Amino acid sequence: MKAIVYEEYGSPDVLQLKEVDKPAPKNDEVLIKIYAAAVTAGDAIVLKGEPFVTRFATGLLKPKNTIPGKEMAGRVEAAGENVTQFQPGDEVYGDLSVAGWGAFAEYVSVPENAIALKPANLTFEQAAAVPESAVVALQGLRNKGKIQPGQKVLINGASGGVGSYAVQIAKALGAEVTAVCSTRNTDMVRSLGADHVIDYTQENFTQNGHRYDLILAANGYHPISDYRRALCPEGTYVATGGSMAQSLQATMLGPFISMTGSKKMGGMLVRPNQNDLVFLKELIEGGEVVPVIDRYYPLSEIAEAFRYIGEGHAQGKVVITVEQNSK
Ligand SMILES: NC(=O)c1ccc[n+]([C@@H]2O[C@H](COP(=O)([O-])OP(=O)(O)OC[C@H]3O[C@@H](n4cnc5c(N)ncnc54)[C@H](OP(=O)(O)O)[C@@H]3O)[C@@H](O)[C@H]2O)c1
Repeated sequence: MKAIVYEEYGSPDVLQLKEVDKPAPKNDEVLIKIYAAAVTAGDAIVLKGEPFVTRFATGLLKPKNTIPGKEMAGRVEAAGENVTQFQPGDEVYGDLSVAGWGAFAEYVSVPENAIALKPANLTFEQAAAVPESAVVALQGLRNKGKIQPGQKVLINGASGGVGSYAVQIAKALGAEVTAVCSTRNTDMVRSLGADHVIDYTQENFTQNGHRYDLILAANGYHPISDYRRALCPEGTYVATGGSMAQSLQATMLGPFISMTGSKKMGGMLVRPNQNDLVFLKELIEGGEVVPVIDRYYPLSEIAEAFRYIGEGHAQGKVVITVEQNSK
């Protein structure tokens, strides 16, 4: 099969399209014919192996898993004898970052609990744009942020891969949503259901006097003290992404701030799991969440997709089509 392979950390130039063995499913695995995948900001970190600390998970000197890629959608081609949930022909999607990676290929074999049936109303390309980004948004808002209907929720970085889901999921969970993005994305985030839009090139939401019950920082940077000021007295701040300084402040200072007052602040790492994929499938099939796709690249041009993601200005998601399988 064709696969994207990287044997050293580096720029997108280290990605090579190669012919490799098609994987055989173990007893508890399914073999998936991949139709589409997505490149995320997280994939770019894994490709570079920077910050260095990430290599404790991905391999200290060189990548442990040489076929990268985590978000994918495809069709089950074969199932191991202990597989109970899936059968050949099922259309599935998943985040393979805890299942050996390997989404940038024509086939992958993964444990069945890494995947779920894909939303029936999505194409493979749309479904591949969901699994990690939407789960980050969901876990940030629901698990860490304890979002409640009627709350005032602000999403910083609302136009990116994670933020575009966060706006829609917060609306689906009954919040009044303020989306923060730049001028060119204001119409897009409004179309996703945002009740209020703040253009960060015109206005600093941490200084306009408004207060929020929950702030999800999907991208950008503000000092944690500014986020604290923008919270209601019992408010919660969750940083799922953004600049390194933003993530570090949330992780290191957030717990102390939470102990010394009524505001809760902290960071979050996504935990991929099947239940959340099923939950999202229902929201998507109910029409409450729709993937926003900025660009499509064929597998053979994946380095270009990484370069584009590396610029940090994607409007929604960047999808990879596995052209050989789509024909
Ligand atoms: N915690 C976790 O487990 C986890 C999991 C996945 C991802 N992440 C992290 O989450 C972050 C976001 O991921 P993503 O996929 O959403 O990234 P992305 O799609 O690459 O984000 C790009 C978007 O961010 C917007 N943006 C850039 N600078 C901004 C600023 N200063 N203020 C507001 N918006 C800004 C851009 O809009 P403009 O160009 O218009 O500014 C663009 O639409 C990344 O840092 C990623 O590493 C964390």
